[in-house]
Amino acid sequence: MRGKFITLEGIDGAGKSSHTTFIADCIQAQGVEVVTTREPGGTALGETLRTLLLNEKMHPDTEALLMFASRREQLADIIEPALAAGKWIICDRFTDSTYAYQCGGRGLSAGRTAILEQWVHGHLQPDLTFLFDAPVAIARERLDKNTAAPDKFEREQNDFFAHVRAAYLQRAAEFPVRIKVINSARPIADIRAELAQLLECG
Ligand code: TYD
Repeated sequence: MRGKFITLEGIDGAGKSSHTTFIADCIQAQGVEVVTTREPGGTALGETLRTLLLNEKMHPDTEALLMFASRREQLADIIEPALAAGKWIICDRFTDSTYAYQCGGRGLSAGRTAILEQWVHGHLQPDLTFLFDAPVAIARERLDKNTAAPDKFEREQNDFFAHVRAAYLQRAAEFPVRIKVINSARPIADIRAELAQLLECG
């Protein structure tokens, strides 16, 4: 049986990454094999692209194209084979990030992103997406506290993140069945309880 494809999303500082291991453990406890990966990155070439994407200034089109180039590699090398082998994938960010950051944040048209999405994974969408959502001021405070050397995105102003957050919430409104919005302004224990309930592993 084909595995399930789960993605984690949210603005920088919303706390997404701190739940990856919990979610993986939750699913593994049900006897399912889990592969955890991230975007941009995951493959050797993808990690090289990640270094460029997180450090170099570039045209918004270039940024979107490189995000999808990394995604194409990852789909071919990691995601598709794992799903075909019945494993579950937990991917830290996927195409919703492009709609949020490149479209919402940088102003790239959703139409262009949709063309790339169709090209790279027209046949595949995540089965389930957790959108970790917190007000920008809270996310910024966490980011400032936990990040010694902020990358290109983390150095963006609050206004940028307000647009990214709005684009995420718009995606969630568009795809209410796939995207579960997790209020991550709450204590970690409360968030975990909700995740366990949604994953039916509580
Ligand atoms: P992130 O996943 O938050 O890693 P870390 O927690 O280690 O900082 O960083 C990846 C950055 O890339 C994040 O700021 C969002 C950005 N990004 C995009 O702008 N578009 C995309 O399509 C993806 C996948 C990521």
